[in-house]
Amino acid sequence: MNTPASSGPAGPSTTTAAPATARPSTGSWNSPRDRAAKWSAGGESRGGSGDASDTPLDRVEIDVDPGGLPIALPISGTVTVIRGMEVGVRGIRLPMGAAVSVDGFAGTLDAEVVAASDGEIRLAMLGEPIGLTCGDRARPTLASGQPMGRGVLGRVVDALGHPIDGKGPVYAARGLIDRPVPAALTRRRITEPMPCGVRVLDAFTTLAKGQRVGLFAGSGVGKSTLLGMIARGAEADCVVICLVGERGREVREFLEDDLGPVAAERAAVVVATSDQPALVRVRALRYATAIAEQLADEGRNVLFLCDSLTRFALAQREVGLAAGEPPTARGFTPSVFAALPRLLERTGPREHGTITAIYTVLVDGDDHNDPIADTVRGILDGHIVLDRRLAHAGRYPAVDPLMSISRLASKVLSAEKVAIADRARRALAAAEAVRDLVEVGAYAPGSNPEADEGLAMSPALIELCRQRTDEISSLEDTFTGLSGIAAAIDGAR
Ligand SMILES: Nc1ncnc2c1ncn2[C@@H]1O[C@H](COP(=O)(O)OP(=O)(O)OP(=O)(O)O)[C@@H](O)[C@H]1O
Ligand SMILES: [Mg+2]
Repeated sequence: MNTPASSGPAGPSTTTAAPATARPSTGSWNSPRDRAAKWSAGGESRGGSGDASDTPLDRVEIDVDPGGLPIALPISGTVTVIRGMEVGVRGIRLPMGAAVSVDGFAGTLDAEVVAASDGEIRLAMLGEPIGLTCGDRARPTLASGQPMGRGVLGRVVDALGHPIDGKGPVYAARGLIDRPVPAALTRRRITEPMPCGVRVLDAFTTLAKGQRVGLFAGSGVGKSTLLGMIARGAEADCVVICLVGERGREVREFLEDDLGPVAAERAAVVVATSDQPALVRVRALRYATAIAEQLADEGRNVLFLCDSLTRFALAQREVGLAAGEPPTARGFTPSVFAALPRLLERTGPREHGTITAIYTVLVDGDDHNDPIADTVRGILDGHIVLDRRLAHAGRYPAVDPLMSISRLASKVLSAEKVAIADRARRALAAAEAVRDLVEVGAYAPGSNPEADEGLAMSPALIELCRQRTDEISSLEDTFTGLSGIAAAIDGAR
């Protein structure tokens, strides 16, 4: 094998290159045509034996060095390590995140570059590496994109865009799943409320179009049920739902019971169940985010629901550990904390439309301070907290209005509505402060006017917050209810 001359130290290094005999004999190496010219010289074959005959297009010129000389880089590499889901490839240089196809015995497997070290790239596989052996050939996949936009509405697809609802092919434009975060100054201002049809949320954590909030709860407290209610009741043009790491049984229950057929018509659902490889689960959220971006860029107000962000983080941790990253806080790898803000910043207000996003965060043993919950709380514009004690008391949806907060409610509600909601919140807080005293009969009515008002208002407020899953309330009705409760207390004085 010959190595072409490199005229400067800054020139990209090459491991192997085309033989000199393959060079065109005339013309300048700097012309675009020359740069695009392919080297059809032989190179490494399967197993690296050096036999050129079975891989005639094994090298391609992809760059010129600073002196204008062409550099031929290998377009395929060789699998050298397979350890669980970790696959190492040598003999090819590819950037982080590049899509790769590996030709194994059982067919071609898709993968993604997740780490690189000197002379080796590490791949995370999109399927079990069954049938792969050392010596197999790995090559970059041409980015073809996945279905996006209107055509995905009403459909349920997997993380790679394949339909899984039995309704035939998805007819939709294709796009890439990783897009840049919009520049801060191109985002439109958040000015409008996003009524979500659930009274306790509209009253105490009014959402805004383009807001991003976390839904924090332990397991089995009612996250999926609440997301279903919001998907049905929210005043959005369309809904994108990402189910990451759920058990297969739960997906069907969510689609049929919580979402229902009517809401499913305006929803695009991306599903990656817990049994799928970690990279597939990671890609599900990146893909669903891209679908929402495309729909919003066409001028829509999109509602984006992700269940759950914690399971996405666990999947990203698996990918990171397999790629050799060190575990840090509670075993989460640095790439988890890099991926979260990047993904969460992709939703929110955009130039032409908005993505209002709700991400569920599983709080381990109801510990609200785990590293993922902490990180997410810092990035988002509000949080909704579900309380297991309320669920046990049959107070569904089990939203704790005192622990939940929307940082944008006061920006999108009239001053009158903000005042009504504040009064209701103060009443609940005052009643909560004396609850223990009341329960043991130690509270003397009249000793604290705020507590008296709280105790008088809270039963009606709690009743207002209770809501059947099949009920949808408008924002106006919710606030009429709140002012009615306050007026009744004032009238009784
Ligand atoms: N609004 C509601 N009204 C009545 N029951 C409810 C309501 N929300 C939740 N539940 C009850 O709580 C159970 C668990 O709800 P759900 O599946 O939504 O919780 P989850 O937090 O998504 O659970 P997981 O952590 O397992 O995903 C339901 O099966 C139902 O019995
Ligand atoms: Mg659930």
